Amino acid sequence: MTNKYIYFVANWKMFGDLRTLNSLDKVIKFSKNNKKNKFKIIYCPPNTLIRSLSKRFKKTKLEVGAQNCHYSYEYGAYTGQVNSSMLKNVGAKYIILGHSENRLLGETNRLINLKIKSAIKTGLKIIFCIGETLKEKKTNKTNQILKSQIEKGLKLIKKKSQIIIAYEPVWSIGTGIIPKEKELIKTILFIKSRFKKNYPKILYGGSVNGDNVDKLKKIPNIDGFLIGGASQNSKKFIDIIKKTIN
Ligand code: 13P
Repeated sequence: MTNKYIYFVANWKMFGDLRTLNSLDKVIKFSKNNKKNKFKIIYCPPNTLIRSLSKRFKKTKLEVGAQNCHYSYEYGAYTGQVNSSMLKNVGAKYIILGHSENRLLGETNRLINLKIKSAIKTGLKIIFCIGETLKEKKTNKTNQILKSQIEKGLKLIKKKSQIIIAYEPVWSIGTGIIPKEKELIKTILFIKSRFKKNYPKILYGGSVNGDNVDKLKKIPNIDGFLIGGASQNSKKFIDIIKKTIN
């Protein structure tokens, strides 16, 4: 862990309804009782819950983010879509972009680049996901893929202060498998080397849980975690945070 704040970002994916929100009281209480430690808790629920969460998080240190948006900064005839300023309007301060689950559905680096630009204009902080597939890893293409995702995703973006990188190896997401320590150290360093200075914060994501976080938190240059499955359960999420900060 390096930077001043440790990030714990909950990516709820397609999970949760209004009833689920009661379970967050535990996390709110935990955050209130831990004023000494410098960490940020950011919940990225489905769009249907952003407004309710941001109301619930008023007067707390917890923040809300979205999971994706349309690339257009303006309103338009795009059925079923929302843009970044609509998400900001209901309380989102962050947005996850480039998640592999959306890349799998056909999202290209170019489209992600347009979305990032629009979210920057809106003033959201972007959690920009990058990561290689198992096939790419097995054929030693990890660095090449990450380089291309970073270059294309951030093309013509000068102002990088709103960008947080989330390294999520696709083969690790939801599988319970995490990268080997040496491998992860190298990959994170490689990502860092793609930036001249003003390094962005770098999060790790992929099967983070209470059992492996002790190992993961020792990796240098990681500023926190992007957590899927384990973040849906407040007890498990708090367990990860406690084990990281203590
Ligand atoms: P899991 O923690 O469920 O592996 O998901 C990781 C992820 O995709 C977060 O964005």
